[in-house]
Amino acid sequence: MRPLTTDDIRQAYLDFFRDHDHAVIPGAPLVPENDPTVLFTTAGMHPLVPYLLGEAHPAGKRLVDVQRCVRTQDIDEVGDESHLTMFEMLGRWSLGDYFKESAIEMSFEFLTRVLEMPLEMLAVSCFEGDAVAPKDEESAGYWKKMGIPEERIGFLPKAKNWWGPAGATGPCGPDSEMFTWIGEGEPQGNPATHENEWLEIGNDVFIQYTKTPEGTFEPLRQKNVDEGMGLDRLAWILQREEGAQNVFETDRMKPILEAVFDLQEHSAFAAKNRDEEQIHREETRAARIITDHLRAAIFIIADGVAPSNVDQGYVLRRLIRRAIRSARTLGIEHRGEFSPTIARAVIKEYGEFYAHLHEREAVILATLRQEEEQFGRTIQEGLKRFEKTVKEISGSTIDGISAFHLYDTYGFPLELTKEMAKEQGLNVDEAGFKKTFEEHQDKSRAGAEKKFKGGLADHSAETTKLHTATHLLNAALRKVLGNHVSQKGSNITAGRLRFDFNHPDKMTQEQIKEVEKLVNEAIKADLPVSFHTTTVEGAKKEGAIGVFDERYGSEVKVYVVGPSDHGHGEFIEPFSKEICGGPHVAHTGMLGSFAIQKEESSSAGVRRIKAVVEGGPKEIDVAKEAA
Ligand code: ALA
Repeated sequence: MRPLTTDDIRQAYLDFFRDHDHAVIPGAPLVPENDPTVLFTTAGMHPLVPYLLGEAHPAGKRLVDVQRCVRTQDIDEVGDESHLTMFEMLGRWSLGDYFKESAIEMSFEFLTRVLEMPLEMLAVSCFEGDAVAPKDEESAGYWKKMGIPEERIGFLPKAKNWWGPAGATGPCGPDSEMFTWIGEGEPQGNPATHENEWLEIGNDVFIQYTKTPEGTFEPLRQKNVDEGMGLDRLAWILQREEGAQNVFETDRMKPILEAVFDLQEHSAFAAKNRDEEQIHREETRAARIITDHLRAAIFIIADGVAPSNVDQGYVLRRLIRRAIRSARTLGIEHRGEFSPTIARAVIKEYGEFYAHLHEREAVILATLRQEEEQFGRTIQEGLKRFEKTVKEISGSTIDGISAFHLYDTYGFPLELTKEMAKEQGLNVDEAGFKKTFEEHQDKSRAGAEKKFKGGLADHSAETTKLHTATHLLNAALRKVLGNHVSQKGSNITAGRLRFDFNHPDKMTQEQIKEVEKLVNEAIKADLPVSFHTTTVEGAKKEGAIGVFDERYGSEVKVYVVGPSDHGHGEFIEPFSKEICGGPHVAHTGMLGSFAIQKEESSSAGVRRIKAVVEGGPKEIDVAKEAA
């Protein structure tokens, strides 16, 4: 393999596709210009949606670019070897021009001839087929023709080998993904048989469908190719022989990671009686989080975002504050100069290709300094307060009021409190947090809390939708898998819901689809949502599901989705009836559409689903008490 630098690889990609008649176009900013349904640009195809749908692009039918992308759904996974919040995607497109055969030929040539990746280190996956699109034997055939042996070709279902749409609706299609071996010893099998040992480095999406608001897939007027390759991952793989063992040790990332360690004076991990190996592991993770989060923060600020309590600004604030907290545990001083120091290292590494980082350097440094100073003033007191709370609680849950206090008084984003709780084997009553949050808003509607105004409503609209979606999912799972299903955990961020429930087996594709279908039918039926107040006993008697624990007190709210029989005498079976603090949307139609992104094991006998809702209105009404 050629030991190429990150800059070499980026340039080689642009050159290779320019030589194959692709016009080089500039990447777009991180905040999408024409799409209010998502916070950040998540893929190279995102700014090109109109052209994939058939509009003519001024630069022609073959395009290539480098797109900075932010994906917030996996922030929790940052710290491992391959996940990043911000990454550079090398992308190229055929807009109704060439299709599968040429696309695969060019991908193969780029990887094996330009990057000189050995054939034996490569494997691919193709779409297994479903009711919408057939098994992609065609792509598999082209890969074989290029020399990929049959045993290195895996077929995978829609959850893995279908890409898009980027929002709720729009262009999408089956894809074929490219992998390289990162397992021990000789390469074995393929991504379908050895999922964790083959690292995805890129994919070719054959965009020939559009997903409609009704959830059906219609053929597009033109057949497109959408390729994305992960620059950071390619750099890792191509620099392995130079010692890069993960995405943080490439020529461009390592200097940033080292700048972090240069600032370290002592370690809070060392004080906690851990063995050396454990301290090393925890310090490495903290340094990676800092490197990733500040690199992402700098690119986000450079594209015009300021820290705030809503939308992109809230994600930015979370990134910066989590980096600062990680700095503390590494024993790094943070008095306004920590994050600007790392920012200079980032700008040094990336400013040549991304000239706007240099142009906006003053704003970047000032923004970070201000946020660091602001958080720095309260973090120490907040951490003390957190420790005190941990000592005071009796069970394993930090109550919503304490979590809100940490947020409101000490500036701890809820996600940060959750992470600190998790480190101590605790969780946070998020519903209680939200309830307190809303009460607080009510109380101070008129006055001093203007800073919360506007966007917070949007932010909580998204989480409210996901909250209602969680009830629909819970009910649908019981209908499909059986009444043994009950909630084992729930976690909602602005972007997705996560739901843990007991069930002995991995769900089949059919079951996943059936659950998705039931939830989407409930959304389409635009069922009313309301609540009534009763006792725990009363709730049990009327068949409400939910976590019956002491935190609810003697009076509980029961949320009903679907026609409610409450107080009317006639009996109609509702879609869902669950004890919960709320809030929820007033009508299920406000959810837009629902999609399961992942079904995986959480622990023994417990499954975990990650799902999203998309395409509903930005403003919502909240479910009221039943008349
Ligand atoms: N749009 C495809 C992706 O993001 C290439 O993976």
